[in-house]
Amino acid sequence: MIVTTKELFKAAYQKFAIGAYNINNLEQCMGLFRGNVDSDAPFIIQISKGARSYTDKRMLEGIIRAADEVFPEAVFAVHLDHGDYDACIDCIDSGFYSSVMIDASGEPFDENIRITREIVERAHAKGIVVEAELGQLGGVEEHVSVDEKNAHLTDPDQAGEFVQRSGCDSLAVAIGTSHGAYKFSGDQALRLDVLAEIQKRLPDFPLVMHGSSSVPQEEVARINAAGGAMKGTKGVDEEDFAKAVPLGVTKVNIDTDGRLVWTRVHREFFRDKPEKFDLRDPGKIFMAEYAKFIAHKNEKLGSARTLKWVRELL
Ligand code: G3H
Ligand code: 13P
Ligand code: ZN
Repeated sequence: MIVTTKELFKAAYQKFAIGAYNINNLEQCMGLFRGNVDSDAPFIIQISKGARSYTDKRMLEGIIRAADEVFPEAVFAVHLDHGDYDACIDCIDSGFYSSVMIDASGEPFDENIRITREIVERAHAKGIVVEAELGQLGGVEEHVSVDEKNAHLTDPDQAGEFVQRSGCDSLAVAIGTSHGAYKFSGDQALRLDVLAEIQKRLPDFPLVMHGSSSVPQEEVARINAAGGAMKGTKGVDEEDFAKAVPLGVTKVNIDTDGRLVWTRVHREFFRDKPEKFDLRDPGKIFMAEYAKFIAHKNEKLGSARTLKWVRELL
């Protein structure tokens, strides 16, 4: 059953976080639904612009529609991840998405508000909810000074004004994470202090954490042992999710970790079975492993075993 992220956030706020998982293909879609159904968790399917154009947006949408029939017990939102103006309008008009993200975080403050406001008006007119972003996610650049790094984080004093003027339904905040497998260097970590300041200005408002993959070291080690060359990776400590939830984080975005599962499964499969060439052999292993991974994440996010209760609130 497709619901809006707003309905899920209302149920989850300060109790647990909803996993928002990016998918691009059939195998990810099957593993995603299986993992969430097995762990009794509501979830958010994220579709990026890149995912929409990987094959054809209608292919991915068709797969998700089919999964909704194959797994009638699933409760999920369909969300555009990091949309620009045109992608948001396309998704709002399509009637399939229950939620869109307008990412105008690279624009100056007032322009970010103006663009976000426009999308909010178009989306709300159709019952679709909007995630916006304030602040910019960083990378692991050690030479950048502390002041420069802080300048990219979400300014708690601006956050309240941004939400009030833009009318967005949830806010993605920059609190030290970045996308991909190389998030931190040295003793860098999540800035829970900045998150606490934002939540003080926005009590009862759902906050979103992008760049939340944990990049498990054992996963990277297996990839490297099977021919990979990933060095210096670091992700978000999974135990930090439980600390972020009371501070208003209600949606946690995870993409990279799923890609690592895919890479590990396929590298190991072809290393160990060089004579094989049927794509369904590693595909089956991947779907099962991805489902296990999703169920594990939902435990860490606290969303596992909440489905019955969430259903009653809908
Ligand atoms: O935030 C970015 C997501 O990981 C999606 O990545 O644009 O490569 O599909 P993508
Ligand atoms: P990761 O790269 O940490 O998985 O982040 C994904 C994300 O933020 C998608 O919007
Ligand atoms: Zn993101």
